[in-house]
Amino acid sequence: MSTQLSFHDHKPETLSFYDAVVTGLSNKTKAIPPKLFYDEKGSKLFDLICEQPEYYPPTVERQMLTTLADDIAALTGQSRVLIEPGVGNASKVRLIMDALRPSAFVPMDISFDYLKAVSTTLAKDYPWLPVHATCVDFTHSLPIPHEVPPGKRLVFFPGSSIGNFCKADALNFLNLIHDTVGEDGMLLIGVDTKKPEPVLHAAYNDAAGITAQFNLNLLHRMRDELDAQVDLNAFEHNAFYNAQAGRIEMHLVSQQRQELRINGHRFPFDKGESVHTENSYKYAPEEFLAFSAQSHFDHVAHWVDPQGLFAIYLLKAS
Ligand code: AVI
Repeated sequence: MSTQLSFHDHKPETLSFYDAVVTGLSNKTKAIPPKLFYDEKGSKLFDLICEQPEYYPPTVERQMLTTLADDIAALTGQSRVLIEPGVGNASKVRLIMDALRPSAFVPMDISFDYLKAVSTTLAKDYPWLPVHATCVDFTHSLPIPHEVPPGKRLVFFPGSSIGNFCKADALNFLNLIHDTVGEDGMLLIGVDTKKPEPVLHAAYNDAAGITAQFNLNLLHRMRDELDAQVDLNAFEHNAFYNAQAGRIEMHLVSQQRQELRINGHRFPFDKGESVHTENSYKYAPEEFLAFSAQSHFDHVAHWVDPQGLFAIYLLKAS
């Protein structure tokens, strides 16, 4: 193995699907954490969502990163240690890698096998780049491997994934990033903006029905993995913008009075009752800047695309 590539497995505890579902359906307001969307089929469906014309965030963010790479590098400087929590397929970081020319890259993800494959390809494609792949639940900790060279740090967190955290968890996560980057550290983060409701509604209700399949896949998982007795045709996808809370909410709505059973547990549903499966918070730029300031991040620059659909922020730990 190249000395440019190392692996660090912190053996993150993965949430048991059974425990999460039974706990979530036992609550007065039934809810299941959105992390559970991403089994193999769910991850493929999410990739397909990203190709839907109505779901603008990935296309707009990519376009922005491509155009802005040099401007961003001029503000961060080169040779920082670049850290990406939840790196996934690493396709977005590639758009800025040559401009940023980091001294090392620390990709983090919860799935070791996937992280290993993605990091190995990255190390091959960027022979000048030391890659220290770290398998961890990044929402709990951001451990930096010992062999990572000293130097200024930059965390990259694209995709508006911050929007899937409730406000308290988002602040905790920004605090964690702040502690990880330390003095002179920076954060480059992509965040979806507030915008007219029809645009948001369409993004989570694509005409091809892929987001609906992504949401309903949770019920398929319950049937296939937990042997749940569930009428798959008796629930419908519902996604809407809750303007007061400033978020898209996704629900699985029961179309009739019914009971879902899992291993002796019985979960009664009224007609119209739902399982809340995801929140996706949207932030106006001034709102996100005020929010990140609570975690002691100062504004360096931010960019919004010409249509006001998406924003990228460069922040500095104060
Ligand atoms: C991953 N995350 C930022 C997506 C979002 O927009 O909140 C997940 C998603 N859910 C439905 N469509 C996309």
